[in-house]
Amino acid sequence: MKKLLIKNASELVTCSGFTAKKGKEMMDLHIIENGAVYCEDGIIKEVGKTNDLLKYETTDCEIFDAKGKAVLPGFVDSHTHLTFGGYRADEFNWRLRGDSYMSIMERGGGIINSVTSTHEASEEELTEIALKRLKSMLSYGVTTVEAKSGYGLDFDTEMKQLHINKKLNDLQPIDIVSTYLGAHSVPAQYKNGGEDKYIDYIIEKVMPVVKEEKLADFVDIFVEKNVFSVEHGRKLLNKAKEMGFKTKIHADEMVSLGGSELAAEVGCTSADHLLHASDKGISDMAKAGVIATVLPCTAFNLKEDYARGRKMIDEGCALAIATDFNPGSCFCENLALAFLLACLYMDIRVEEAVTAITINGAAAVGREKTIGSIDIGKQADFAVLEFPSYKYIPYHIGTSSVETVIKKGKIVFNR
Ligand code: NIG
Ligand code: FE
Repeated sequence: MKKLLIKNASELVTCSGFTAKKGKEMMDLHIIENGAVYCEDGIIKEVGKTNDLLKYETTDCEIFDAKGKAVLPGFVDSHTHLTFGGYRADEFNWRLRGDSYMSIMERGGGIINSVTSTHEASEEELTEIALKRLKSMLSYGVTTVEAKSGYGLDFDTEMKQLHINKKLNDLQPIDIVSTYLGAHSVPAQYKNGGEDKYIDYIIEKVMPVVKEEKLADFVDIFVEKNVFSVEHGRKLLNKAKEMGFKTKIHADEMVSLGGSELAAEVGCTSADHLLHASDKGISDMAKAGVIATVLPCTAFNLKEDYARGRKMIDEGCALAIATDFNPGSCFCENLALAFLLACLYMDIRVEEAVTAITINGAAAVGREKTIGSIDIGKQADFAVLEFPSYKYIPYHIGTSSVETVIKKGKIVFNR
C-alpha cells in the first residue's frame, strides 16, 4: 500500500464539500491551520490538525513537510479546447488593427482555420502537442482538465480529437474530462440554410458513436448569433440528455441570445462565457443550479466587457472560473491569470475564486463527489503553494504560486 502524510501545512485549504457552492457559501474555505492530510493508494483517509495525524508517521509512509506552505485541492480547469492543430497568431494582430473576433469568423477565418489544421495534423502530432500543453497546465496546480473536441466537425477528425482525450489519461498525470463539441461551428457545406441538417447529422450519426465508445462525458454547443440558434441548442442538448450525456453550453458570449436561460431550461451542468447573460438568465441559472462558468482571460484578450460574476454570485449562482484555452480567442493555459482577472474585474473575492477553481470547477465537470476538495474518500490531488496562504494566488501577479503538485498521492510536479 502506498501511504502519504502531508503535515505542517500553514493552511490546509480544504474547500470541504461534495456539491457545488452557491452564492455566499463560496466564501467558506474550511481552512485548517497547521493542517495535515493522510492518504492511502491515492485516496484521502484522514484530514485534521498535524498533531492529531502524526500517528501515521511510520517508516513505510512517505512524508511531505508543508511547513510555511498552503495546501489546496488540485485545481480544475473546467473549460478548455485542449487539442488543435496550427495557430492563429495573425488574428491577434488583425484584432489590434480593429478587426473583431466575429468579423474574422464571418469572413471564413477563426475556428474554421483551426478546423483545417486539425484535420491535417496526425493523431501522433496532436497528442504530442497536447502533452506539452498539459505539462504547462500542471505547473499551475491543475490536476483535472476538461477538453473539448470541435476542431474536427467532420466525423473522422472529431473522433481523432476524442480518442486523443481518452488516451491522454494514460500518458500523463492530469485527469481529462472529455466533451464532444461537434456543434462548435457550421461546416462550409452546411452554411446558409443547412444548419438544421448539421444538427440532425450530429444527433443521428455522431452522438450514438460517441456514447457507444464512451468518448465523452459531456456534449456542448456554441449558441451564438450567426453560429447556432437557441432552437438548435434546445434540440441538441435535450437529445444529448436523453442519450445519457451531461451538457454544457457556450452561452451569451458576444450577444445576449438567451443561452443562459436555455441552460436553465434544459438543466445543463454549466453555462460558459456569459458576458451578455441577461438578468433573467442569471436568476434562471441560480434557480436551476446551473454552474456559471466565467472565462475572464477571453474577455481580457478580446477587450470585451467581463461577465457579471459578482451579480451571479449575489443572485445565488455557483461560479466556476476557467481558462478557455484555445487557438483563437484565448491562447492561455494560465489559470492563475484567470483567477486574478476575475478578482480584479468581476469583483470576486479571493475566497470565492478559490472555490471557483476547486469544488465548483469539479462540479462543472461532474466530478464533485471525487475531486475538488480535501475530504475523506476523495482523490489525493493537491496543489502546494510556495507561500503560506491562498491569498498569495492573485497577489503574485499572473503567474503560478504553485511549488508542488500531488496527483493521486504521488508528487508529479516540483518547481
Ligand atoms: O470558447 N467561442 C467559441 N469557441 C471558443 C473559441 C474558439 C476559437 O476561436 O478557436 C471559445 O472562446
Ligand atoms: Fe470555449
